Amino acid sequence: MSIGTGIKHSYPWNITLDGRQVTLRLMKRSDVENAINFARELPPEDLMFLTVDITDPVEMEEYMRDCDRGMAVTVLAEVDGKFIGYGSLACSQPHWTRHLGEIRLLINRQWRGKGLGRTLANEIMQIAEDKGLRKIIARMAVDQKGAIQVFEHLEFHAEALLNDFVIDRNGRTHDVMVMTHDVTGLTV
Ligand SMILES: CC(C)(COP(=O)(O)OP(=O)(O)OC[C@H]1O[C@@H](n2cnc3c(N)ncnc32)[C@H](O)[C@@H]1OP(=O)(O)O)[C@@H](O)C(=O)NCCC(=O)NCCS
Repeated sequence: MSIGTGIKHSYPWNITLDGRQVTLRLMKRSDVENAINFARELPPEDLMFLTVDITDPVEMEEYMRDCDRGMAVTVLAEVDGKFIGYGSLACSQPHWTRHLGEIRLLINRQWRGKGLGRTLANEIMQIAEDKGLRKIIARMAVDQKGAIQVFEHLEFHAEALLNDFVIDRNGRTHDVMVMTHDVTGLTV
């Protein structure tokens, strides 16, 4: 299976943000090095709660294997060949949660508040629909108040609060908010 199997939307395509052309396209293996460089330029607080450690080449290789199997997809946003953010979808693997996918969004700080998060979230929701998923989950630490508000704007609602559910790089645990969005027009 190749990256992009089952996705109806065709990539790349461009949007204009702040007068700059931003290209949206699917991440492929040859992007891993640039993706790691993008991640390493982010402040530590942006890297605190990642499901995949995008600064680690070994974890990225495993992630690309999930992409090859059609179980994960990342839509990259780039300006002049430099990554400025991404949205990703990880399909749930256990049989009884095969209707679920998890969204992750991460935007370079300079590019936040300009609508890129919403654009990438819409791409991920469309891809989830193409893949026949029924529900999208977003997880974040309860102290990420801004991110919770952003997902409320994206029509996600709070579904569960999990105590001490994640641990940061310093070994401190945090409560997690699980937010969900129902995908419409589905066929699984
Ligand atoms: C969360 C994040 C992806 C949002 O990206 P963004 O490009 O700034 O988001 P947008 O500009 O598209 O805004 C999306 C919506 O949230 C609103 N919003 C943006 N920032 C907000 C904030 N700090 N507080 C409240 N609402 C906010 C916007 O008004 C917009 O709603 P609207 O379209 O109805 O007006 C970005 O802040 C980020 O990368 N944060 C760090 C990683 C993270 O926490 N990810 C979430 C867990 S997966």
